[in-house]
Amino acid sequence: MYEEGHLTEANTFSTIDPEENKIRKRLIEEADALPRVDVLQKFIDAEDPVTGDKLTLRQLQSEVALMLVAGTDTTSNTIAYAIVHLLHNPSVYKHVTEEVRSIFPDSPQVISFEDAKAKLPCLSAVIYETMRINPSASDLRVNRRLSPQSAYMEEPDVFDPERFLGPDSAERVKDILVFGSGVRVCIGRNLAWLELYTVLANTLRKYDFSLSTDAPYGPHRLGKSGAPVEIPAVSPHQY
Ligand code: HEM
Repeated sequence: MYEEGHLTEANTFSTIDPEENKIRKRLIEEADALPRVDVLQKFIDAEDPVTGDKLTLRQLQSEVALMLVAGTDTTSNTIAYAIVHLLHNPSVYKHVTEEVRSIFPDSPQVISFEDAKAKLPCLSAVIYETMRINPSASDLRVNRRLSPQSAYMEEPDVFDPERFLGPDSAERVKDILVFGSGVRVCIGRNLAWLELYTVLANTLRKYDFSLSTDAPYGPHRLGKSGAPVEIPAVSPHQY
């Protein structure tokens, strides 16, 4: 129903062309034969354990909008940043693809989150180092870009996944604050981890990436430290 109140049926498309509406309704009825196990359905089914109240349509819309805003660019930008860092650092790229391709030789079987996390330390280090340099959502940043833990690291601007492979890597991993902390910690972080590991592991196993020949940034453009110059995170015209 589309009036204010509890949503008992999510299948009404009042603003859609009636013919199209009929087709959609039929498809939904057919699909309804199967149990729905997605996040939207969880919100529709959720009940207050004390009062038994369900979410109103307005609350449902607002939860869906929050999930879309908080859960899409954050994760996809982190994945994109990781690939850019790998392209700027060919030796790390070689290392990480060799790791994933040797541990999981080509196969139609998707590499699972659990397997990727447990068996790909180099990929883990790349993900952590990417999030340290380019925290995609954190309000807590150093120099607008680096996560706070960078404040006590040597050469914080340099992409160096080895930081998360050394003897103190467990401590460093604990310091990752990209998902916030405390009662407001990111509610979608487990989903984000799952996406980061599975997308990167499976994509790096299957595809070879390369920069375009006229890319302005890359391994050919080194800064004073000898490391590739980072693409500026903030446009100079923005401030
Ligand atoms: C790499 C990916 C992500 C990063 C870096 C990230 C980061 C964050 C951070 C820092 C906060 C806390 C903001 C604050 O201090 O108020 C937050 C909150 C939140 N995130 Fe994420 N997030 C990511 C992915 C996701 C995903 C995949 C979802 C859901 C599908 C999600 C849903 C949310 C929601 C709903 C909140 C608000 C929680 C609340 O206020 O109780 N995030 N996220």
